[in-house]
Amino acid sequence: MEKEHKQIIVTGAQPTGMFHLGNYLGAVKNWQRLQYDYECFFFIPNLHSMTCPPYVPAELRKTTYSLLAQYLACGLDPKVSHLFAQSEVIGHTELAWVLGCILPVGQLFRMTQFKAKSQDKDFVGSGLLYYPILMAADILLYNADCVPVGEDQKQHVELTRDLAQRFNQTFSETFVLPEPYIMKTCARVHSLQDPTKKMSKSDANKNGTILLFEPVDAIYKKIKSAVTDSGSGIFCSPEKPGITNLIEILAGITDRRVEDIEDLYKGYNYGDFKRCVAEAVIEHLKPMQKRYEELIKDQSYLRAILDEGKAFAQERANRMMSKVYRKVGMLQYG
Ligand code: AMP
Ligand code: TRP
Repeated sequence: MEKEHKQIIVTGAQPTGMFHLGNYLGAVKNWQRLQYDYECFFFIPNLHSMTCPPYVPAELRKTTYSLLAQYLACGLDPKVSHLFAQSEVIGHTELAWVLGCILPVGQLFRMTQFKAKSQDKDFVGSGLLYYPILMAADILLYNADCVPVGEDQKQHVELTRDLAQRFNQTFSETFVLPEPYIMKTCARVHSLQDPTKKMSKSDANKNGTILLFEPVDAIYKKIKSAVTDSGSGIFCSPEKPGITNLIEILAGITDRRVEDIEDLYKGYNYGDFKRCVAEAVIEHLKPMQKRYEELIKDQSYLRAILDEGKAFAQERANRMMSKVYRKVGMLQYG
């Protein structure tokens, strides 16, 4: 009952593979903390994963389970939060259709992510263009107050607010306008090899990206060989993107302020500082890695978690969709 009074959070990460340190520090680590203060819907946006074909359907099924195991290993708690797969709750795609009908198509063509992802592609599916509307539906279906995402997703949450407002004005007051929630430190974790770029799964240089569940000796090596500048001193500066990135990573992983890290490591040389960053990252990740290994072997447990999350989410989704269909002039929902 108590849950009813909490503000609502909706968020998810695409099951395109294994989490990297950017996904964790920029997103999931914060979700873990927020779940005790908010009612949280942490879902797996597997329909979004169809927007960049070609993909392998069997792989998508596997990564959906893997993503859930990663959520759990990162501390998302199925007793506290609702964990489910987007494709299993009826309502996401239906609401997307409704929202799509009130949005001028030009606004979709102007989205930064669409422009980036459609560049130099032989095939650009309509789904890629439609992606932000499906995301808006994910959020509005549960009347989210707050959407924790990395900086790169902020524009999508702004579009969601715009859509909610349009709907409310066109029909009548229905949706809450959700706020994006961006963490300051580590809102953007950068590549270890090119610290002017964000850390990303698709980076061709694998040494730039730390995966959460890769062997710890590989993690150690990657951090030790992170690109830094030729100067010295452990402090953040636009001229020192490499060191700044490492400072922010250490601050994020140890829950300390950037200023405290600068103070603490003042006299260190780059080599020693990198060693400390590597050790702190590994110490933090080790228990999570162990938990992931156990979970990924137990598919029936993972399935049971998804079933429970789906049942809860479906009830909420039905409530919202009945209201929406009534307002837009359908005879009944379902
Ligand atoms: P993606 O892997 O792009 O599906 O992103 C999943 C979540 O992680 C989203 O909330 C992103 O904004 C966040 N994220 C992805 N890459 C980074 C990064 N390098 N730094 C911080 N957050 C990130
Ligand atoms: N677009 C998000 C990403 O790439 C994933 C996502 C889909 C999402 N639907 C969402 C995030 C709703 C928050 C809320 O990370």
